Amino acid sequence: MSSLEVDLSSVEEGQTITVKWRGKPVFIKYRTDEEIAAQAAVSLGDLKDAQKDVDRVVDPKYLIVIGVCTHLGCVPIAGAGNYNGWFCPCHGSHYDGSGRIREGPAPYNLEVPEYKFLEGGKVIIG
Ligand code: FES
Repeated sequence: MSSLEVDLSSVEEGQTITVKWRGKPVFIKYRTDEEIAAQAAVSLGDLKDAQKDVDRVVDPKYLIVIGVCTHLGCVPIAGAGNYNGWFCPCHGSHYDGSGRIREGPAPYNLEVPEYKFLEGGKVIIG
């Protein structure tokens, strides 16, 4: 299966980009310190699919998730919803700034793909 190299140097803090990998959208969100702190402060008891933010990232600055809603597969919208993350317009699932499901019918968090950071501000997905 193919990998995808992405140059992160043009992504600005606070910005989310979408790239395509293996036919699926992948969201890369360059999070601010405030966004990172807010996600770290979420109580696991408030989560349907309980996962710590720190366990969903390699570098907390960059959240990288597959952009496919875990309900029925629509593509959520970045920067929307009630939790500073994504909103899936198909049936109203709200994901937070760690890609975790917070409200709505989706059962699981947005999936984190395999990836690693390379020299020169790049990341390789897959
Ligand atoms: Fe996203 Fe149903 S496919 S809420």
